Amino acid sequence: MNNWPYPAIVAHRGGGKLAPENTLAAIDVGARYGHTMIEFDAKLSRDGQIFLLHDDTLERTSNGWGIAGHLDWDDLVKVDAGSWYSGEFKGESLPLLKDVAARCREHGMMANIEIKPTTGVDVQTGKVVALAARDLWQGMTPPLLSSFSVAALEAAQQAAPELPRGLLLDEWRSDWRELTTRLECVSIHLNHKLLDEARIAALKAAGLKILVYTVNNPQRAATLLRWGVDSICTDRIDEIGPHFNA
Ligand code: G3P
Ligand code: MG
Repeated sequence: MNNWPYPAIVAHRGGGKLAPENTLAAIDVGARYGHTMIEFDAKLSRDGQIFLLHDDTLERTSNGWGIAGHLDWDDLVKVDAGSWYSGEFKGESLPLLKDVAARCREHGMMANIEIKPTTGVDVQTGKVVALAARDLWQGMTPPLLSSFSVAALEAAQQAAPELPRGLLLDEWRSDWRELTTRLECVSIHLNHKLLDEARIAALKAAGLKILVYTVNNPQRAATLLRWGVDSICTDRIDEIGPHFNA
């Protein structure tokens, strides 16, 4: 059976739009708003350290530049990932997954680790992240692993088959059933714009839990929950909080 211990509302990139994304400060902000689960994006440095960053490149969310995954951790650790957002967060660094796990433990938060490989290192990233997640989350609710990369999910499945997996889709795929079956996914994670009631019914009939992103309109969130969506990933962590009532 499909065990889904996760809450209905998940804070996107740690603190949604209320903090610099994918930082420890963002996780603290998510916790301050009472969130019990966060989503974040994990990738590898050139020397195999797992850290959080959404884009392949550093420019948008830090004072660094270039492809992050082509740099060693010694260089990445010097990057300021907070100032781009506001002076209040100056000096915030890119976090290592191990520090993220510790912070989640401190706050009693669950995690959706989105495996976000640098282009070309999907298999290695899926494997290394899954193995680390298994170790780091011991004694906590297992982290939900997800990815747009089928290759990364396959590698995660092989490395740590017991960790729950979700297939991420930004466009509808007619082979969703075959893919989620082969990858033994507990869930499918969809751009909410892809969903209607008929698709939700088909996905649920297949035994999948449904997580949608990124829902920032409370009315839309209420509709999706009424339709039977299991979890909503949001940037509006203030408006769509843990006590959000559909
Ligand atoms: O995991 C849900 C969502 O984060 C996927 O899209 O681009 O925000 O990582 P993105
Ligand atoms: Mg993400």
